[in-house]
Amino acid sequence: DRYNVAVVGATGAVGRTMIATLEERKFPVAELRLLASSRSAGSQLPFHGEPVTVQELQDDSFQGMDLALFSAGAATSKQFAPKAVEAGCIAIDNSSAFRMEPGIPLVVPEVNPEAIGDQPGIIANPNCSTIQMVMALKPLHDRYRVRRVIVSTYQSVSGSGQKAIDELVRQSQSALHCEPMVKNVYPHQIAFNCLPHIDSFLDNGYTKEEMKMVNETRKIMGDDSINVTPTTVRVPVMYAHSESVYVETDEEIDVAEVRRVLSAFPGVSVVDAPEKNEYPLAIDAAGRDEVMVGRIRKDLANPKALNLWVVCDNLRKGAALNAVQIAELFLR
Ligand code: A2P
Repeated sequence: DRYNVAVVGATGAVGRTMIATLEERKFPVAELRLLASSRSAGSQLPFHGEPVTVQELQDDSFQGMDLALFSAGAATSKQFAPKAVEAGCIAIDNSSAFRMEPGIPLVVPEVNPEAIGDQPGIIANPNCSTIQMVMALKPLHDRYRVRRVIVSTYQSVSGSGQKAIDELVRQSQSALHCEPMVKNVYPHQIAFNCLPHIDSFLDNGYTKEEMKMVNETRKIMGDDSINVTPTTVRVPVMYAHSESVYVETDEEIDVAEVRRVLSAFPGVSVVDAPEKNEYPLAIDAAGRDEVMVGRIRKDLANPKALNLWVVCDNLRKGAALNAVQIAELFLR
């Protein structure tokens, strides 16, 4: 069986990675329909070596499609994902539009595949920083029961899309050449800087990105008792997010056992040999599928707590790969 697949936001950083992921994983595609705004209609992107022409997203874009992967922002998803479902598609949405809606599955296939249910409609793909964190938390939760998480993120600019990748390149050149700094994407210079500000601020003092990590973690893990306290930070890295994660559990931690349960978890790779300067690095995770975990160590005061360093390509497992893996759940 082969499927007609639409990619909405095909020209974006995540959209292009979705196309590459469908190709690499040999997803059984009959027709690939690439959709974006009128700005890029008529341009071409390669799929299995053949050029595919990008079309403008319109109300009737989903006729004849079986699957629609969305990554063109929440407003576009709100407007068009229901139209894709009406046209008979399974819509897998990478935006924040539907994630916390009751009845909409929020899925990381290694963590809660059962959540997709048997009524395919819209399936939400979680936030990138949440996906990589729950990939590390799930095996620990199953063994020790996770109670509380304190997390600080070091998030790459590719999470803000292609225009942010371009901005970091330009600003870095401007800084090195003492030229005027142009700021379009972020409120401050991102080159040679760290911004403790991702998405907009809420009345409680946290950002929307931080509250995604709080709420989505509970929904994916199916446990509202897990308390997450996050600080999300944009750093001048191109690809892959890093996270410092402190985890408090119900039971005393055994580090050797933590290594074993993390290594055994699909999609996680333990990289933890500090004596050889080996630990997860953004530049190593970029372009790879696994979530890398290292710096595994017990808390110094609380025997039921540990610290981890978790790194993952935000465009791959954090977005495109997770979305394609959700689609693969329907192939079975
Ligand atoms: P386009 O390239 O035509 O602007 P990124 O996250 O890298 O910025 O990419 C965003 C993606 O979403 C791009 O493919 C962009 O298309 C697409 N997009 C943005 N707004 C719309 C819209 N209103 N309708 C369709 N596609 C959109």
